[in-house]
Amino acid sequence: MPRLFSRTFVGLLALCSLSLTTSATPTPTGTSFPSTIHHAKTPTLSIEYFDSDPNNTTAPVAILIHGFPYSIDTYIDVVPGLVDEGYRVIVPSLRGFGGTTFHSPSTPRSAEQAALGKDVIDLMDALHIEKAIFAGYDWGTVVVNVAAALWPHRCTGMVAANSYLIQNRATAWSVAPAASFPVKWYYYVFLTPFGYSSLANDTKGWAEILWSRNSPNWTFTEATLDAAAQALRNADYVDIATDFYRNRLLYSKGDPSYADLAVQLDSQPVISVPAVTLDPDQAVVFAATDGMATAKFFTGKRVHHVVKGCGEAIPLERPRVFVDAILEVAGLGGK
Ligand SMILES: *[C@@H]1O[C@H](CO)[C@@H](O)[C@H](O)[C@H]1NC(C)=O
Ligand SMILES: *[C@@H]1O[C@H](CO)[C@@H](O)[C@H](O)[C@H]1NC(C)=O
Ligand SMILES: *[C@@H]1O[C@H](CO)[C@@H](O)[C@H](O)[C@H]1NC(C)=O
Ligand SMILES: *[C@@H]1O[C@H](CO)[C@@H](O)[C@H](O)[C@H]1NC(C)=O
Repeated sequence: MPRLFSRTFVGLLALCSLSLTTSATPTPTGTSFPSTIHHAKTPTLSIEYFDSDPNNTTAPVAILIHGFPYSIDTYIDVVPGLVDEGYRVIVPSLRGFGGTTFHSPSTPRSAEQAALGKDVIDLMDALHIEKAIFAGYDWGTVVVNVAAALWPHRCTGMVAANSYLIQNRATAWSVAPAASFPVKWYYYVFLTPFGYSSLANDTKGWAEILWSRNSPNWTFTEATLDAAAQALRNADYVDIATDFYRNRLLYSKGDPSYADLAVQLDSQPVISVPAVTLDPDQAVVFAATDGMATAKFFTGKRVHHVVKGCGEAIPLERPRVFVDAILEVAGLGGK
């Protein structure tokens, strides 16, 4: 059983951290990361994260950001490929997921793009990491786009599925093609109290439906779904999950402490760091493109690939493609 394995693994890690001669964390295997390995305190959150080589200040760093409704376990098969190449790999649980918690009950449970991006920079500050490669898909794309666009001096390169998803709120209510509504159905369901309570009632069932719909040809195992489902038991999960869509559709105002950043993002700032963008050809919500429509958002070197036979969850469906994209962006000038 994966959970049993995880507990053993956590025990081993605790022993390792007592030994000064052993600095590297063993690479993860199975379907889930050992939970609660590390927590970093940021101004707003206690962020739970996996770290393949804590305290190594010389290794290049890659920070991998998961999507919705997924968990850090998305990256279980990506981490070893990067560790083999000498990377220190950090995989945080987003706010509302896994063991990441808010310090204060009065902090708005906002999942606006500014807040999610700033959380990555806050995590880097807490860990004294100056620069890293940022990589993500789905919500993770929004996160790495924001972090790379607003804090380019903290980013050596960016890998993002679906290229560029920073939103200008002024266009949130632009008329949309009729065909976009059936594939984005859950965006609208989550605007309603009925959607909120239904998600709260069955977080795993919703994950299963969204995974199946958004990666139609991916046959995931029950163990993989279970690993993610654990991370959806976070007390803030339903608030955060629904707020992401409510905020993008202007039904939630956002946290005033991010108001300045939110305004900067409305201008859809360019990404100047090297970038590798990946469009999965079986993704449903965002159809694959040749990258031309988003070229205006990239002012640095940018390579675009279509990932064949893959749905939304690239790191789970094609872990090697994701590893190779990170190595490729490093070769474009990032480190
Ligand atoms: C390693 O880093 C952690 C924070 O990530 C810190 O708490 C710990 O003291 C560090 N250990 C050493 C030996 O420097
Ligand atoms: C840090 O990581 C680099 C690159 O993987 C490695 O060469 C080095 O030995 C590591 N340093 C420590 C102290 O583990
Ligand atoms: C989900 O809703 C059903 C039907 O109302 C109820 O029996 C069940 O206890 C609920 N489960 C959770 C986890 O809220
Ligand atoms: C799924 O894969 C099968 C063959 O492996 C292919 O015929 C089918 O078109 C694929 N479905 C989608 C949605 O791409």
